[in-house]
Order: sequence, then structure tokens, then C-alpha cells
Amino acid sequence: MFRSILLRSVLPLLIAAGVVALFALPYVDRLLRDWFSADMQARARLVMSSLQEPLAPLVARDDIEGMGRLANRTTADERLLGLMVCDQGGRLMYETARASGTVSCLAASRVPDGHSAILQTGTGSVQLTMFGEHPQDQSPYRVGVLYDMGFVDRRQTTARDYVITFGAVAVVVLAAFLVLGAWLVLRRWGNVLVHDISGRRFLDNAQSAPLWMPVLRQVRKVLHDMEESQRLEMDYRENWTPQALQQVVREQLHSPRMVVVSNREPYIHDYTPSGAVMVQVPASGMVTALEPVMRACSGTWVAHGSGPADREVVDRHDRVAVPPGEPSYTLRRVWLSAEEEEGFYYGLSNEGLWPLCHLAYVRPSFREDDWLAYRNVNRKFAEVVAQEAGGGDPLILIQDYHFAMLPGQLRARRPKATILLFWHIPWPNAETFGVCPWKQEMLTNMLMADVLGFHTLYHCQNFLSTVDRFIECQIDQERMTVALQGHVCHVNAYPISIEWPPRWLAHAQEIAECRRQVRARFGIGEHVALGLGVERWDFTKGVIERCQALELLLEQQPELRGRVTLLQIAAPSRSKLPAYQQLQQGTLAEVERINAKLGTDAWKPIVLVGRHQAPEQVFELYRAADFCIVNSLHDGMNLVAKEFVAARDDEDGALILSTFTGASRELVEALLINPFDVTETADAMLRALQMSREQRRERMRLMRRTVKENNVYRWAGRMLMDAARIRQRQALAVGEARAERAWRVS
Ligand code: F6P
Repeated sequence: MFRSILLRSVLPLLIAAGVVALFALPYVDRLLRDWFSADMQARARLVMSSLQEPLAPLVARDDIEGMGRLANRTTADERLLGLMVCDQGGRLMYETARASGTVSCLAASRVPDGHSAILQTGTGSVQLTMFGEHPQDQSPYRVGVLYDMGFVDRRQTTARDYVITFGAVAVVVLAAFLVLGAWLVLRRWGNVLVHDISGRRFLDNAQSAPLWMPVLRQVRKVLHDMEESQRLEMDYRENWTPQALQQVVREQLHSPRMVVVSNREPYIHDYTPSGAVMVQVPASGMVTALEPVMRACSGTWVAHGSGPADREVVDRHDRVAVPPGEPSYTLRRVWLSAEEEEGFYYGLSNEGLWPLCHLAYVRPSFREDDWLAYRNVNRKFAEVVAQEAGGGDPLILIQDYHFAMLPGQLRARRPKATILLFWHIPWPNAETFGVCPWKQEMLTNMLMADVLGFHTLYHCQNFLSTVDRFIECQIDQERMTVALQGHVCHVNAYPISIEWPPRWLAHAQEIAECRRQVRARFGIGEHVALGLGVERWDFTKGVIERCQALELLLEQQPELRGRVTLLQIAAPSRSKLPAYQQLQQGTLAEVERINAKLGTDAWKPIVLVGRHQAPEQVFELYRAADFCIVNSLHDGMNLVAKEFVAARDDEDGALILSTFTGASRELVEALLINPFDVTETADAMLRALQMSREQRRERMRLMRRTVKENNVYRWAGRMLMDAARIRQRQALAVGEARAERAWRVS
């Protein structure tokens, strides 16, 4: 540090002092000389005025002796070198002995009367002052007074020595002060910065700093900016927001054309009984998760236009801007004929793959016609998606088991696209999947995706062992990749989630108000504890088992009769299928039996609502409940569990959760149950009712933190970051191959 202060401050000071000395010293010399010369000139005038009168008669007589005596009297001044008298013709008439030979009358004639000149003689410098005399009746003559200026030279040397010594001392003292001052200031800055950094003070006052510390202002600004970008980096990992997701799309993926494909559309247009068009958000975990991501990232969502009024609102390209009222992305609808829907959606997707992947012990049905319809509809979607994606290297996000063939069909149409397929339901073990007659075709086409996502690592491992069993390919178990026909597919777990904070919470009523309103709406007593079940009416959800668990609880704990009700919301789904019709009838029968057995005129153990509820209504139910039960027999993730937790900003309410849901891997503070064990489920309901407020708060607090951190932006962000890395690696490989080709040619 000292070296740098010396180099940067002291050296320039020395150079400046040298430059000053170079100009100042001749100036001081001249000043001294002028001062002394003026002094000598004044003295010469004095001498001349005393000589003037007595000299004139002596000059007239040419009295050399007289002039000598007069001069001896006058030249007693030791600096006065002597006098000389010259006639008008430049002839020397008289000169004193010491002045003799110093200056000639000829040289003196060049000095005007009354003026002085400094002349260099063999003995040193001499000042000659000339006076012209014009006495009456006498020839004029000139008198020269000579002063020895040797003392001026001596004084100049002394003065110069003084100036140089003083200047040098001043420079040294100044430099010492400078170094000391700089060191003190730097020490102070160092202390302030250490204080700033340890106290992270720059976060709030990046611009503020005392006037004498401008550098500090800059340093604080730099630290503040660094902190900002670090925070954003951390956002990617810990606190995912729509902004963080947008940043990934912009900076890591360079804003590609983005297309999402799913069977279920995010908005369904239907008619009200009066014939007006209305919008409905379907009961779908996939829609719950994807919709906020699309709001954040924009792009196009391609989906089956299944609503009765869907055709009425699209433009001539079958597109409609959504969400209604605040459009931020495009929904492109694909129309399916009744036969297509039958074979593709009801047939292979929901009678084949759905029961195949969910271990709910419903036998899957595989029909050749359904398989053909499935393949054709996948091809139809591939055409539309390729059209919406345009050329180049779009990013295509395929959703779910309806589109196992789509990655391969899209790869053929858009070889440079980055294709992600997310499987929203579980993946069974190899033996179970092995019963699918078209497993090879499906797996081969799925593997044409760049990324294949599942909710849990367990599903990934099941998938890899299925591929291993049925496909000729290279599997890297460590990196979880599958290489097939020169293409590498990355298999990874991305646990899906919900937006945080949920949009619906912004307009939610206070908890007490929700409790009051929900109980009033469904005819439940004000002091009756409310257990809540909300889902699609699906055989995987364990709706009947739940009712039976409540029955058991009320039998074992008769004091709870009249004090607890299960409110079951079951949104009808896939109602054309026999398995779903049986489920609906079975549920109704079971509810009727239990209510008849245990209920009274004033109280029903189970209130079953067999219709779809809008998301804001569902959030009101979550806030009104004492406990929420998710006892799915098998579920990829289950977002109801996460939504319930997100809705409870009062940190109250208990969650009963099946261990066969993906959500149970994250929400370990829930009351975890085996949904096939009705006794265990009944016990969990009792625990939920008896748990202290403090226990509920502690569990809810931890679960809320988990859902907040692992929100849907993180789910999408992690997948998109993996997609970005794959794109970067592909670009690198292409660049290197091109360079190698060029090198070979040259
Ligand atoms: O969340 C899994 C899922 O299968 C989604 O893919 C689907 O949208 C949802 O359940 C509801 O099913 P459906 O679209 O058949 O009504």
C-alpha cells in the first residue's frame, strides 16, 4: 500500500517541486539583482549630487590631482569601486585608481545619462551609472559611478541555497503528511467497509456515504449490485417467483418460441342455462400447476377444445387469448371427433394407461381401435404443435400420458426442437407396465424427448427399469440418461407444485367468515368440526374408503356423533366410463348407507357434493375446514394437499395424507396414512380432531415453508434450466463438429 502511495502521490509531488524550482530559481536571481541594482543606482545618484558642484571647476581646469582628492573623499563606501570622467568625445579625463581599466569611456558612451548597466569584467560584475554634466561656460562631460556588484552574486548563491533547502524540507514534510493522511483515510475507509460488509449495510444505503468518502459510495454501489445478482441466483434455488422463471427463460434459454401441449385445456367455454357463454377452470392438477407458469412465460398452449362453447370464442386459426380479462398467452384449440375422443381419451388414455399406471386395482383395458385412435390423435396434435412452434429450435413442453407418442412424432417434424415430456401420474414397475401391448412403440417415442420428467425418483427408477427390460438402448444409471438411435434422453424427478402465494388467496375472506359461510351453505352446524375431501370423482382418490373410515371413527367414538361432518366435494369426471359410473353409484350408495345408519335429522356424518367447484370456492372450503383428507390409493403428486396448506395462512388445520401420493415425500409433517387401512385412516381423523392448536401450528408452519420453497415456479424453473443446459451442450457439439469439418477441408 505504501509503495503505491509513494508512487502515486509522493513522486508527482517531487516532480512538481522540481518543475517549480526550475522556473523559480532564475526568477529569484533576477529579483535580487534588480533589487540591488536599483539600490546601487540610488547610491550613485547620491554620490553624484555631492560631486556635481565641486567637480565642475576641477574638470574645467583639468585638475587631475584635485579630482583625485575629491574622488578619494567620496569613494570611502567600500562597494563604490570608483569614478570615471569622460569628455564628450569619449576620451577619458580622469578615473580613480580602483576603477582603472575596468570600463572604457567608449563602453560607457553606450549607457544613457541617468541609466545604469551591469557589465561583466575580469574581476566580476560591475554596475556603471552615467550622468551627463553641462556646466555653463564649460564643455560638457560625463561622470560614471562604478559599483562592485560581486556581493550580489554571493547573495544570489546564498538565497538560492536557502530556497532549495527550504523547498526540499517543505516537500519532505508535505510528503510525510500526505502519506500519513492517506494512510489514515484508507484505514478509516477500510474500517467503514468492513463494518458495511459485516452488517450488510450497503443493502439499504447503496448511494449514501459522507462527502469525504466518494469511493465508499462507489464500493457500496458495487456491493449492492453484487448482492442483488446473488439474491436472484438464490431466488433460482430457494425462492422461486414468476420473475425468476422469466429470467431463466430470457437469459438461459434466450426466449425461445414456447409451446405447451396437453389434452385438458386451461379454460373451458360453456353455456349458462340462459345461453350465455361462461368460462370454467377444470379440476386438474396439471392445469393448476401449468397455468401460472404460462402466465409468467407466455407462449402458446395447445389443447383439446372440449367445451360446448369453445368454437364460439376462437379466431379463424382456432386461437383465443387467455386468461379471460387479462390475456398473457394463447390457447390453440384442437378439435377431436367423437370417435377420436372415444378411442384416444376415454379408451387408451383413461381405460388403458390411467389404471395401468395407478395401482388402484382397476384392470386396464387395451383395445386395438383405441391404440390406433391414440396414435392418430397424437399425430394430429403433432401437426398443430409443429405449426404453432414454427421453424428453428422451439421449446415444447408436453404434458402427460395422453401424449406418449408425441415426442417421436415431433422429433421427426422439428429435429432441432427441445422437447420435454412431463408424466403427471405415477410410473409403475416394469412388470406392471409390461402388460401394455404397445409398450415398445410408446417407450421408443417417449425417449425421443430431451427431458422426461416424473414427480419422484421412484417413478424415474421404475421408468428406467421398464426401458431396460423392453428396449434395446444404452442406459447410464448414474446420469439417468437413455441413448437410443443417437439421441440422448435425460430422465429426472421434478416434484410438481402450486403457485405461491396462490392467486385465490388475495380475495379470500377471513377464516372465521369462511367457516361461517361454508357451514351455512352446506347445512352443517356451526359447532360441528369439518373434515374436507376435494377431488375429481376418480377411483384412485379413495373416496369410498374415506367414508368408511369416518363410519368406523363414529362407531368407535360415539361421542363424536353430531360433532363432526365430512364434506366431500367430488367433481364428476370421465363419467362415460363404466369404472367411473360404478364409482359414482358406489359412493352415493355408501354415503346414503352411512348417513342413514349414523345420522340424525339435525346432523349428517357425510355431505356429498357431486359437482365441480370454482377454484375460489375450493379455497374458501380449505379455509373453513378443521382437517383435510387426501387418502388417494395412488397419486402422482396430489396438489389438493399443497393447496390446503397454502390456503391456511392462519397456520391452523390438520392434513391427513396418503403415503401413496408424491406429496407425502415432501409434506412429512402431515398425518401420514395407508389409505387401504381404514382403521389407520379413522385413527388419523381422531388425531386430527384431538391435536392441540400448538401441534397444528407447528406442523402447518413447516408444511407451508416446504410448499412455499418448492413452488410451481421452482418445478418449471428446474426443468427449463435442464433444457437450457441441454441446448447449450448441443450448440457446443454442433460448433465443434463444424470447426472439425472446416479443419479437415482445409
Ligand atoms: O393430474 C393428472 C391428470 O391426469 C391431468 O393430466 C388431467 O388433466 C387431470 O388429471 C384431470 O383429468 P381429466 O383431464 O381427464 O379430467
